[in-house]
Amino acid sequence: METLLLDSNTWLLVLTGAGVSAESGVPTFRGMNGLWEDQPVEQVASPEGFAKDPLRVWRFYSQRRAGAAGVSPNPGHDALVAWERHLGDRFLLATQNVDGLHSRAGSQRVVEMHGNLFKTRCSNDECKRAPFDDTTVYPAGTVPGCKDCGGLLRPHIVWFGEYLDPADLERIQDFSLRAASSGGRFVFLAAGTSGAVYPAAGMVDQVRGAGGETWLVNLDPAENSRRFQHSVQGKSGEVLPKLGRLV
Ligand code: OAD
Repeated sequence: METLLLDSNTWLLVLTGAGVSAESGVPTFRGMNGLWEDQPVEQVASPEGFAKDPLRVWRFYSQRRAGAAGVSPNPGHDALVAWERHLGDRFLLATQNVDGLHSRAGSQRVVEMHGNLFKTRCSNDECKRAPFDDTTVYPAGTVPGCKDCGGLLRPHIVWFGEYLDPADLERIQDFSLRAASSGGRFVFLAAGTSGAVYPAAGMVDQVRGAGGETWLVNLDPAENSRRFQHSVQGKSGEVLPKLGRLV
């Protein structure tokens, strides 16, 4: 197996997806055939899905909360913590996962591009209430209400058809600019992601455009596999701990 050299010259941007949590027992999106209660997940996890049937949306996220609360980080998460400790500010982890497992493992420089399963916010755009921590598994048949404005509360998740937080995108962009202009080696590694959902799926092209080196660790070929220069097929919990050569 190839190894990824992580030395004092290296800047590393990591992108993770649902596959990295699979070995912890969190189901991937496309692994459920992209369906939940026989509905395409895109129709549940969307503003339209929430407008049409908020009960169903809260059933989905309450079930995911219950599932994610009972799992633990795996050796793939731990490897990324070790890499970050080694590289310090030359490391950034962008994750599409909302399960919070990277932070629970000990990762600190994390951008949760798609939000966090254990946060809730008001669905009323006029309401000033900030997103808040919320581990509640709401009983089926309930939609929590906002104590400030009486609107419906919703999960603090970036749904299909919604924009990512510009501050998150800026953090990733800033890191990439610093890496590309550092005079060092800029490496991008994607792990456990099907490369189907943008803008995350386009990061590989941006890094290549900036002269960076690109790596993919995935169980199955991803939709954007061919755009990576190095590709390792396998489980992230097995591959990542062996891949990095920290010098
Ligand atoms: P997907 O479910 O689309 O893809 C998971 C990928 O992980 C697949 O390509 C699998 O082959 C791979 N995989 C499975 N087990 C693995 C393992 N143990 N090690 C390594 N790879 C493994 O998940 P994402 O790419 O994260 O968006 O999906 C992207 C976004 O689409 C999600 O964040 C979510 C979703 O619907 C929102 O919720 C907004």
